[in-house]
Amino acid sequence: MSERNERNEQPGRTTALVTGANKGIGYEIAAGLGALGWSVGVGARDTGRREAAVEKLRAAGFDVFGVPLDVADDGSVAAAAALVEERAGRLDVLVNNAGVTGGMPQQPTMVDPAVVRAVVETNVIGVIRVTNAMLPLLRRSASPRIVNMSSGVGSITRQSESADVSMTGPISAAYSPSKTFLNAVTVQYAKELRDTNILINAVCPGYTATDLNGFRGIRTPEQGAAIAIRLATVPADGPSGGFFEDAGVVPW
Ligand SMILES: NC(=O)c1ccc[n+]([C@@H]2O[C@H](COP(=O)([O-])OP(=O)(O)OC[C@H]3O[C@@H](n4cnc5c(N)ncnc54)[C@H](OP(=O)(O)O)[C@@H]3O)[C@@H](O)[C@H]2O)c1
Repeated sequence: MSERNERNEQPGRTTALVTGANKGIGYEIAAGLGALGWSVGVGARDTGRREAAVEKLRAAGFDVFGVPLDVADDGSVAAAAALVEERAGRLDVLVNNAGVTGGMPQQPTMVDPAVVRAVVETNVIGVIRVTNAMLPLLRRSASPRIVNMSSGVGSITRQSESADVSMTGPISAAYSPSKTFLNAVTVQYAKELRDTNILINAVCPGYTATDLNGFRGIRTPEQGAAIAIRLATVPADGPSGGFFEDAGVVPW
């Protein structure tokens, strides 16, 4: 059965939620999923930034709704799940995009442990918190997909084999390892969910010009969003537990 058929058998619109969708890559993922005719929840923790993004996406013709969502806050995440349930009754696609670097430099020998803790709280535990809160809604979908926004800097292979900063990012005790951790968690979810119709994958957007890196990236946010949109729309026989960028599989 093709994914198109599965989705067509479901009543109502395909509904997605993107975390950290008020700007950068997350905003463009929301726009890209909106362009498919989907209803898209714009997850964002700041009211003003969320409302501005929702307004802009609506002006562009997309069916979006704001979802107050701080991925580091249990209560906020529970309320977000309740809002999505009330609005759509189920969730078809979750894109865990929200992320922080913790600021640089982040030399392991000098890093403040509080920085490591804060980055893991958002980039890893935040993903687990949101995913688990949304899982009951995802289980109601005919073809649920979860996409975790990782980074090639989380690839231990690239960190070990490359001296090219465009591949590895700066030395970092928190950010890169948080994406390695996220990749490992993604694989564990895929293993647990193997006998379900839920497909979960990690993706790397490439070095993208956003607030995260002072707009030094070389790709546009729209280009960065493409791989997440691709994995959000994979058919039922698509991969699960993988790590992908535009060029293909990213080595662990
Ligand atoms: N840019 C790159 O080159 C690159 C490369 C590889 C991977 N990535 C990943 O791509 C994702 C998006 O990053 P970006 O480049 O688009 O950066 P960005 O423009 O800084 O966007 C990050 C988004 O995450 C949100 N966020 C941070 N902490 C949050 C929290 N606790 N709860 C809810 N939202 C939170 C931010 O919200 P606020 O506006 O409220 O801060 C913002 O919407 C991140 O996971 C990042 O690690 C980026």
